Amino acid sequence: MPVLKALGHSCFTLSTAGHSIIFDPFLTGNPEAACSAEEVQVDAVLPSHGHSDHLGDTVAIANRLGCPVVTVFELCMYCARLGCEVAPMHVGGSRTFEWGKVKLTQAWHGSAVIGDTIEYTGLAVGFVVTMGGVKVYFAGDTGLFGDMKLIGDAGVDVAILPIGDCFTMDPEDALLATDFLRPGLVVPMHYNTFETIRQDAGAFAAQLAERGVRCQVLRPGEQIDLT
Ligand code: NI
Ligand code: MN
Repeated sequence: MPVLKALGHSCFTLSTAGHSIIFDPFLTGNPEAACSAEEVQVDAVLPSHGHSDHLGDTVAIANRLGCPVVTVFELCMYCARLGCEVAPMHVGGSRTFEWGKVKLTQAWHGSAVIGDTIEYTGLAVGFVVTMGGVKVYFAGDTGLFGDMKLIGDAGVDVAILPIGDCFTMDPEDALLATDFLRPGLVVPMHYNTFETIRQDAGAFAAQLAERGVRCQVLRPGEQIDLT
């Protein structure tokens, strides 16, 4: 414990014996989804930004379970208007919950809910979650940024990094991110779901191995014990 499980695209659960949280629950409409939104049982939902492939089923899951949406203030207010319990935060701040601690980081990306109109939902963010004694950096959608060095300086056990290119870092930039973050384990995300983000995760893992960095490629439905 804790256990990190991939559910497809950028959706992951992080679970200890008694608690579970979900990042970016894009399940409905996700061609790679390993479960349905109705099957999710969690203590909190952490969407990194308002884009549909990240906000996904956040509102449905939070409302069904009566659990909080934990994210940046503006996106929390959007979810609150749709009936969700929320735990708003902002970049650089942290909050402690029964199940663990969450700190918001910057992410170089946009954030809006795109419908008939475009609704601003604050800054896109990443999360540093400490749960079950393990510190996990979930980068969200982001380009490479130098302040990942500072996140690394504070200590990161596991880094979940996008490698898809087009909307986020590509594998080459994700390698540089790993140099900055110096994590014990890297898990790639946000690739192969769509044609525009096709990547060879195995080749990325091999490049990390050459640098002596452990990488675990998790296909949707696969999980890894982080202890
Ligand atoms: Ni996005
Ligand atoms: Mn995305």
